[in-house]
Amino acid sequence: MTKYVIQGGRPLHGTVEISGAKNAAVAIIPAAILVDGVCRIENIPQISDVTLILSILQEMGASVRTVNRTTMEVDCSCIRNSRLAEGPARRLRASYYLIGALLGRFGSAEVPMPGGCDFGGRPIDQHIKGFMAMGAQVDVNGGYVHANAGGRLRGSQVYLDVVSVGATMNIMLAAALAEGMTVIENAAREPHVVDLANFLNSMGANIMGAGTDVIKIRGVSRLGGGSYTIIPDQIEAGTYMAAVAAAGGEARIENVIPKHLECITAKLQEMGVEVEEEDDAVIVRRTGPLNRTNIKTMPYPGFPTDMQPQMAVALCMAQGTSLLTEGVWDNRYRYVGELRRMGAQIQVDGKIAVIEGVGRLSGAKIQACDLRAGAAMVIAGLAAQGATEVSRVYHIERGYEDIVRKLSGLGADIRAVVAPEEEAAEENVG
Ligand code: EPU
Repeated sequence: MTKYVIQGGRPLHGTVEISGAKNAAVAIIPAAILVDGVCRIENIPQISDVTLILSILQEMGASVRTVNRTTMEVDCSCIRNSRLAEGPARRLRASYYLIGALLGRFGSAEVPMPGGCDFGGRPIDQHIKGFMAMGAQVDVNGGYVHANAGGRLRGSQVYLDVVSVGATMNIMLAAALAEGMTVIENAAREPHVVDLANFLNSMGANIMGAGTDVIKIRGVSRLGGGSYTIIPDQIEAGTYMAAVAAAGGEARIENVIPKHLECITAKLQEMGVEVEEEDDAVIVRRTGPLNRTNIKTMPYPGFPTDMQPQMAVALCMAQGTSLLTEGVWDNRYRYVGELRRMGAQIQVDGKIAVIEGVGRLSGAKIQACDLRAGAAMVIAGLAAQGATEVSRVYHIERGYEDIVRKLSGLGADIRAVVAPEEEAAEENVG
């Protein structure tokens, strides 16, 4: 069991390079199931969610060749079976993309119900609604989603009742090889939705409108191999931006698409942080005090929910009272208790958190309770006076490549240490 030990209270200075986008990679890799040939995928982040999804594909019979640290060649043409073994798929949210991809290729799929971070209920009814509109029978029993179309799916009109990233991308996967046209209305517009459409199109699909709320997918009979580079991770970049805001200093954040960061940049500027944009980098600088602000999370291009915990830490360091409103998930404030141990003053009422800026946190032993909350705990440790120990960092390593090395490159005093067994046992309690 690894934990991170951080000596905080020192500003960050230097350059950090952002990896490929997790939430694009975990959809694009399963999308290779639809492709008859070799997919060369570049800019793959080295994170445990990606390792897991690659191992699931390999177990199903796919061949995965490592070309270099961030490039893989994935060939799924040998996969013959559309039923997944129980094991690792349950530990991953993104395993739901295997339903759309297998259903699109084989006309049937049997996939364990997905896992992932706990933010209250995480239904997949909109995914299922889409598959059923395309002619599949879908039922959930024995912990599995069973979907069967008895042949090729048929294109259809699908109106999403909620803007769902997962449902939009999953329906896109299922529709790529369907007969006729599928139209997704009220579609999600996140950068990774566009990236998946671009990947599929580069393999021969016919998808229009990704990035708007109406996506049209004209089914094709075959996708062939090709080469594709995943976009940089918007949330990883935003996390380093929030770290500079909270801890102070100046960092050049490279390999980003500044357009994808605009919602984060705008909030940080309101708080008095300077952000300069270059073609594929942003420079973030915080020298003076931070101003309070209000933030409401929303689907893209609104402020991303996956940046909410990191910004909460920055707001603890600001002057005055800020309001955070979570507009996507029912329960994404489980980390607040950990921040209170460091001196934060935060009251939560349902989806709203009232953050009294305290200007100063003090180091403590805290836990990562999910991926982004874990990143927020690291930021709190960087900003706090004294020593902080963050446990359960496996949550963080699901989605942040080499966070300890990257932060050390910014001058942070952070080390990963293996916790003694008795501490690890304590961590598992509850
Ligand atoms: N929803 C439904 N029914 C559905 C699907 C979603 O009611 O069938 C609701 C959800 O309960 C939620 C809202 O719609 O209230 C949005 O959920 P969405 O489907 O967009 O979320 P997701 O696909 O499960 C992805 C990311 C999350 C990110 C959300 C929102 C992946 C693997 N996960 O989840 O990322 O928070 O979109 O942007 O792409 C993270 O990276 O830390 C993470 C949790």
